[in-house]
Amino acid sequence: MLTAEKNKLLCDIEPGSAMGDLLRRYWQPIAGESEFDKISIKPVRFFGENLVLYKDGSGQFGLVDRHCTHRRADLSYGWVENCGIRCSYHGWLFGADGRCLEQPFDDIANPGTRLKERCSVKAYPVRPMAGILWAYMGPDPAPELPVWEPFTWKNGFVEIVGCDIPCNWLQCQENSIDPVHFEWMHDTWPSRIKGDATVTAPKHLKLAFDEFEFGFQYKRIREGMNEKDPMWITGRVALWPNGFYLGGHFEWRVPVDNENSLCMCWFFSRVPLEKGDYAQARIPTWYGKIKGEDGRWITSNVINQDIVAWVGQGRIADRTVEKLGMSDVGITKMRQRLFEDLEAISRGRDPSGVIRDADRAKCVALPIASPETHRDAISTEDMKKHPVLKNRLNGNRWVAGQPDDVYNDFMDAMGWPERKRPVALKAAE
Ligand code: FES
Ligand SMILES: [Fe+2]
Repeated sequence: MLTAEKNKLLCDIEPGSAMGDLLRRYWQPIAGESEFDKISIKPVRFFGENLVLYKDGSGQFGLVDRHCTHRRADLSYGWVENCGIRCSYHGWLFGADGRCLEQPFDDIANPGTRLKERCSVKAYPVRPMAGILWAYMGPDPAPELPVWEPFTWKNGFVEIVGCDIPCNWLQCQENSIDPVHFEWMHDTWPSRIKGDATVTAPKHLKLAFDEFEFGFQYKRIREGMNEKDPMWITGRVALWPNGFYLGGHFEWRVPVDNENSLCMCWFFSRVPLEKGDYAQARIPTWYGKIKGEDGRWITSNVINQDIVAWVGQGRIADRTVEKLGMSDVGITKMRQRLFEDLEAISRGRDPSGVIRDADRAKCVALPIASPETHRDAISTEDMKKHPVLKNRLNGNRWVAGQPDDVYNDFMDAMGWPERKRPVALKAAE
């Protein structure tokens, strides 16, 4: 349980807030790079700010204020040029660093003016990496953008998936350090949805939460497991401050405003042994579906099930009335670390896990249970029998709404002729 003041402190991420200031000190994944194969300008909103994300003719990405500094027209209705974005109202041109480069009429009427120097638009740096566009919205100097070691894996099919989540970022992130929900939400509940009341998932018997440089490892013993199991030795990673790493994929919960978040995911699927070397021509990006035609949340896919929990807690979870139990030790530790990091920032220090060493950032290893499952090649025959990997035959099992072209590209990458998307999944989409 938290007091109303402490709950507000952790949940308020809009401009001027302490927690917004904390989260802005990390590079945040805000879009997929391949979205800009078809568009050049995208209106976006992060940390309560309306912004425009664009790719100009030279290939440079920019993230600037939605409103032109001249008379506040919407720059998302402008156009990109070889260098920068131009406002459609009176033609002012802005570079990716926000500097005003041209003011067409003033440049003619008052050629010596230094007005431009006072007309910069707010701008944030954007960098493409691993198929994702990363933005840094914090104070200078920006830290290094970490290349997490799985981003360097070869011979895999990568897809970037976003979901628009109508709730505060923290209840999504608290789900990243909540092992017991797997037993109920992802094991037992799906069988109940299918009308099978006989399935009883193995119970959680023991939990541990260990902090490391880049977050927490949570570890579990369930019925039928012993202490040599990778899920006890290594477990899963709640990646600091708003990520989740599960071996074959990452999830980040990026604040849009206090009541909305963007869940951005990076998925890696190793192609089978027989395919040999594989180089992906293009990393696709798509946005998942969270609501069915009946107006209810979709429950068919793993992250959709999580979303039911997140949004079910309300737009901003009221932690003044929650009753925490023994499964919530990690959540308490996570909140404590956030409070301590807020304190660190107020003393002029970096919060946890910020990397300032460029060499260090080039490849950052993370704890991973059974890395071979995700990273190493096995035969198609073994893949199709594998308890986790075989599910990919049915499309992305994590998020509903994978487009057919991405599914077909995935099957082509795997070298599988089957096209077996289940009717039930398509109907739910
Ligand atoms: S409002 Fe943008 S150029 Fe005038
Ligand atoms: Fe989950």
